[in-house]
Amino acid sequence: MSQFNDAELTAAVMRSFEEAPDPRVKFLMEELVSSLHQFVRKTGLTFDEWGYAIDFLTRVGQKCSASRQEFILLSDVLGVSMLVDAVNHRERDGATETTVLGPFYVGEHKPMPHGTDISASIPGERMFVQSRVTDLKGRPLEGVPVDIWHADDDGYYDSQKPGYEVQGPSSRGRFITDADGRFFFRTILPCSYPIPTDGPVGEMILQTRRHPMRPAHVHFLIAAPGYEPLVTHVFIEGDKYLASDVVFGVKDDLVSRVEKRSDPLMPDGKPADAPWYLMSYEFRIKPGGGTVPKPMMAATEDA
Ligand code: BEZ
Ligand code: FE
Repeated sequence: MSQFNDAELTAAVMRSFEEAPDPRVKFLMEELVSSLHQFVRKTGLTFDEWGYAIDFLTRVGQKCSASRQEFILLSDVLGVSMLVDAVNHRERDGATETTVLGPFYVGEHKPMPHGTDISASIPGERMFVQSRVTDLKGRPLEGVPVDIWHADDDGYYDSQKPGYEVQGPSSRGRFITDADGRFFFRTILPCSYPIPTDGPVGEMILQTRRHPMRPAHVHFLIAAPGYEPLVTHVFIEGDKYLASDVVFGVKDDLVSRVEKRSDPLMPDGKPADAPWYLMSYEFRIKPGGGTVPKPMMAATEDA
């Protein structure tokens, strides 16, 4: 029988992975054990605190469903998602900066004609988005699918609303770049919004006196064969939460001026019936590869 003191215990658990056939798995498990044990030792974790943590993680798991990912939310608010993003995107070489995917990349993103109003059925101030996808030398990339999603005027994504299954998607779509790398669409001006606070992650945010807000943004996922998938947002300049995003996702290059316009025609020559906003942003993508994230419900259906 073995009897360990607390320092020997760590070494023994690390040794228990000695026969793991995959060296990367072995390395990750050893490092995880070492960091977890160090946390327990350093904090002098009590049984009550350990029990609370077990209960919290259990509730995080129980809150997950086909359209709700409470573990991603936990990773986001602890800054882990942005840290994984940072260590995997150290060299940008002039490519557009990346940020979190977030938990609302869901459902089918069907290609739509340029100019489509992806928020036609919902109220809000109208916005025209014109954009372009190029390589690092500024050469246009044609035929690239660009997925877009954002929150509505009340700060909710379509999938968070009770009528989603019946009403279908809104404020989300897919556009394919033209020969000049361009795409454009209509939507509404998104607003800042709180991450979901009706689960254990929101509870933790409120109990620790953090605010749950994200600054207004539009999500973009750009996936071209032979290029690194670009997962990013464009944030709206002037938002009061830019400096305190609850998921630490803001980067200066991703903040864009969104101008209020009163021209009677939008850039595609079609009439505007009220003042509108213009978002213009150019994306540069990097040669390479990588896994393209799948929308959450589609991934569940495939499984
Ligand atoms: C989002 O932008 O949709 C998001 C990102 C991280 C956590 C919650 C929401
Ligand atoms: Fe978002």
